[in-house]
Amino acid sequence: MSKTFYIETFGCQMNVHDSEKVRGLLEARGYSQVSSPSEAGMVLYNTCSIRDKAEQKVFSRLGGIKRQASGKTIGVLGCVAQHNGEDIFQQAPHVDFVCGSASYNALPEILDRVEAGEARVTGLSLETNETFDAPRIERDRPYSAYITIIEGCDKSCTYCVVPFTRGPERSRDSEALMREARELAARGYTEITLLGQTVNSYRDPASAGWSFARLLDEIGRLPRIRRVRFTTSHPSDFTRDIVDAIDRNESLCDWVHLPVQSGSTSVLKGMRRTYGRDEYLRCVEMIKSAERKIELSTDIIVGFPGETEADFEQTLSLLDSVQYASVFSFKYSPRRGTPAAEMQQVPEVEKGRRLRELQQRQRRIQLRRNAELIGRSEEALVERRNLKFRQWVGRTTQNRVLNFSDPSALATGRDLRGTYCQVQVTASGPNSLVGELVSAEAEPAFQGLHVLN
Ligand code: 5AD
Ligand code: SF4
Repeated sequence: MSKTFYIETFGCQMNVHDSEKVRGLLEARGYSQVSSPSEAGMVLYNTCSIRDKAEQKVFSRLGGIKRQASGKTIGVLGCVAQHNGEDIFQQAPHVDFVCGSASYNALPEILDRVEAGEARVTGLSLETNETFDAPRIERDRPYSAYITIIEGCDKSCTYCVVPFTRGPERSRDSEALMREARELAARGYTEITLLGQTVNSYRDPASAGWSFARLLDEIGRLPRIRRVRFTTSHPSDFTRDIVDAIDRNESLCDWVHLPVQSGSTSVLKGMRRTYGRDEYLRCVEMIKSAERKIELSTDIIVGFPGETEADFEQTLSLLDSVQYASVFSFKYSPRRGTPAAEMQQVPEVEKGRRLRELQQRQRRIQLRRNAELIGRSEEALVERRNLKFRQWVGRTTQNRVLNFSDPSALATGRDLRGTYCQVQVTASGPNSLVGELVSAEAEPAFQGLHVLN
C-alpha cells in the first residue's frame, strides 16, 4: 500500500496543533498527505470528546469509512481514543490502532508495529510526565503558528473530560519554547499563539523558572513577532503580572479568552471552578484596568445539573456586566466518568431554551458593541479570501473577524494572506466587521503560500 495518509481533526486548537505534529512525524517517515480518505493508505481521525455530539461525529466517520476500509490502515487519535480506549475496537472492528492525546510520544513505536502488520495496537497510558516535543512540525499556515506551552490539566471541574483525556499538567521547558519561537520568527512567522488547557498556569520546569508573564515578555520581545496570543486562560491563575506584560508589549494582542462557565456562585461551586462570581468579576476589572483596551471572550455552559432559573438569570446578568466581545455557549453534556454526570440533570428542552435566550442576549450586546467600531481604522492579519463576496477575511488584534474589500484596487492581483492591512470599518454585524482596505504592507516575510491554495 502506498505511504499516503489522510487526517481529519475535530475539537480545539490543541488538537489542530497535535495534528500538525503528527503530520510532521508521518512526513519524516516518508508518508505524504492526501486530501481525501479514498486516496489514502492510512486514514487518521484526531478526535474530541468534550461533548457527546463531538464524540458521535467520530463514530459516524468510522461507520462511513467502513466500506472503503479494506487495505487501509485506520487510526483513532486524540481524546476519544484516550477516553474510550480499547472499546473502540468493539464499536469499530476495522480500526487498526488507537493513540490517546497523552500518548503521542509512543506514536513512532505504534506505527512501527502497525507497519509490521500487528492488529489492534494501543497507546493509552495517562501516567506521563513527558510533553510531546515533536522533532518536526508541519504547520497549516506559513505566517501564524501554535506553540504548546503546557499540556494536560490538574484542575478537576466536575463536568470535564479533559483531565481523563490529556493527563496531568506538564509545562514545557522555557529554553525549548524560546528556541521554537525564534526559529519560527526566522522562518517568517509573525503571529504566535501559545496553547494550553490552562495556559496561564504555566510554570517553567527549567532552572530559569519563568512565570507565565515572563514567558509572555520574552516571546513578545522577539524581533519580527508582531502578534502573540494565548489560550485558554483559567480565571483562578490570572494574575496582575499578565496584565502588566500585555501593557508592556505591543505585540501581545488586546484579547483574553477567559471562560467563566456560569454567572452563579452556587453553580460554579457545583462545577468546582475554584472561584465565585465576585472573584471572576474582580479578575475582569483587573484586565479592564489595563492601559490597553483588552477585549474579553468566554465559554458558558447552560443547564449544568442543579442550575435553577435564578442561577441562569445570574449568567445573563454577568453578560450585561462584562460586555464580552464574543461568547461560546454550550448545553451541558454529561460525560462518562465525570462527577456531574451522576448529578440530577436539567431537562433537555430547558437547556435548549436557556441556550437560545443566552445567545439572543449576547447577540444584542455584540451588535451594539461592533456598531461602535464603524468609522475606525483597524489592523487586520489576513487569513483567507472569500471569493463569493470578493472580500479578504482577517482578524483584528482584539480577535474580531474583519471582512474587507479593496475598492480602489490598492493591492490588485496580490495575495494578501498573511499580511497586515489597515482597514477602515464601514459596517458591522453581530459576529464580524466589514471594511475597506486603506493600505497593505509590502511583501510578507514568509514563503510558501502555496500550502494554502
Ligand atoms: N458539556 C458542555 N460543555 C462543556 N465544556 C466542557 N465540558 C463540557 C460538557 N461536559 C465546554 C466548556 C469549556 C469548553 C471548551 O467546552 O465551556 O470551556
Ligand atoms: Fe476536545 Fe477537550 Fe480534547 Fe480539546 S482537549 S479535543 S476540547 S476533549
